[in-house]
Amino acid sequence: MKKRKIGNSDLVVFPIGLGTMGMSEFYGETDERQSIHTIHKAIDLGVDFFDTADMYGSGHNEELLGKALKGRFGEITLATKFANKRGPNGEFLGISGKPEYVKKACEASLKRLGIETIDLYYYHRVDPETPIEDTVGAMAELVKEGKVRYLGLSEVKGETLKRANAVHPVSAVQSEYSIWTRDIEEANLKECRELGVSTVAYSPLGRGILTGKFNKIEDPNDYRYYLPRMQAENFESNKKIVETVEEIAKSKNVKASQIALAWILAKGEDFIPIPGTKREKYVIENIDALKIELSKDEISELDKLYAFVKGNRYDDYSMGNTLQ
Ligand SMILES: NC(=O)c1ccc[n+]([C@@H]2O[C@H](COP(=O)([O-])OP(=O)(O)OC[C@H]3O[C@@H](n4cnc5c(N)ncnc54)[C@H](OP(=O)(O)O)[C@@H]3O)[C@@H](O)[C@H]2O)c1
Repeated sequence: MKKRKIGNSDLVVFPIGLGTMGMSEFYGETDERQSIHTIHKAIDLGVDFFDTADMYGSGHNEELLGKALKGRFGEITLATKFANKRGPNGEFLGISGKPEYVKKACEASLKRLGIETIDLYYYHRVDPETPIEDTVGAMAELVKEGKVRYLGLSEVKGETLKRANAVHPVSAVQSEYSIWTRDIEEANLKECRELGVSTVAYSPLGRGILTGKFNKIEDPNDYRYYLPRMQAENFESNKKIVETVEEIAKSKNVKASQIALAWILAKGEDFIPIPGTKREKYVIENIDALKIELSKDEISELDKLYAFVKGNRYDDYSMGNTLQ
C-alpha cells in the first residue's frame, strides 16, 4: 500500500488515518475497552495516523490515546490540536490563539498523552483577536523546543494559511471534506497545493450520515441531532444524496462508506481522510476502501451531488468559526 507524505514534512502515513473523537464524545455512547481494542487493531492493520484534540471529551480523548498507545507512539504519527477552550465541566469557553495559551495547551496535551513530542500540532480554530503570526510564532517556538515536530491548521482560508506559512512551514491543513462538504475547493485548496500542504479530510463520512447507516438521529445527546443538515426541512433532500452513494456502492458490491472514502482518495495524493470510528469492524471496512477504483463517470456522478446539499455543515455560531 503506497503511503502518503504529509506536506513538506518527513511524516509518511498509511493513506487512511483514524479519528478518535467519537471515542470520547459527540456521537453517542462510548466504551473505553472497545476503543482501546479498536486502536490496537487499527495499528495491526497498518493504520499509523491518529487524530485527536485537547477538546475532545475535555482532555479524555488524549488520555485515552496516552493509555492505548503507551510504548507504541514510535510506531505511529500522532496529531492533536489546541484552541477550543473548555472548562472543568466540559463547558465551551471560546477560542484562544494567544501565545501564552498555545504554550500552556501544549504542555497539558503532552502530559495527558504521556509523550515528549507531538508529531503534528494543529491550531484547531482561528482566534479573531490574535494575529495568526503571533499564534504560529508561538507554535514555531514549540518546534524549536522539541515539543512539536510539525505544524498544522484547521478551518482556515487560503490567505490565513499563506500568512501562517510565512512564519513557519505548515505541513497540513485539516478541513471538513467529503462528498457533501466541499467548500475548501474554493477556500484553501489552491493555496494548499501551491505551498505543498496536505489536506487532512475530517468527517469524511459526513459524520457517518454518508454511510447510509442512519435514517435519522433520534438521540438529543448525539451532536448530530442538532446539525442543520439533519433537520426536517433539509433531511429529506440530503437523504437522496446518500441514496445515490448507496446505489453506486451496490453496483460495485461495496459499502457506501467505502465509496465516500474512495472518492476522497481519488482527489489526489495530497488528501488523507481520517474517518472516525469506535469499532474494529468499521476500521476494517474503511481500510478496504483502498481497493476501490472509481471510474471517471462514477466520480463525476458523485461530484454532482454537492450541488443538492441542503443546510450548513454547522450551526450558525460554529459556522462563524470556520474557514477563517
Ligand atoms: N478539525 C476539526 O474541526 C474536526 C471536526 C470534527 C472531526 N474531526 C476529526 O475527524 C475525525 C473523523 O470525523 P468524524 O468522526 O466527525 O466523522 P466521520 O468520520 O465522517 O464519521 C464518523 C461516524 O461514522 C461512523 N462510521 C465510521 N466508519 C463507518 C463504517 N464503515 N460504516 C458505518 N459507519 C461508520 C462512526 O460510527 P461509530 O462511532 O459507531 O464507530 C461515526 O458515527 C474525528 O474523529 C476527529 O478526529 C476534526
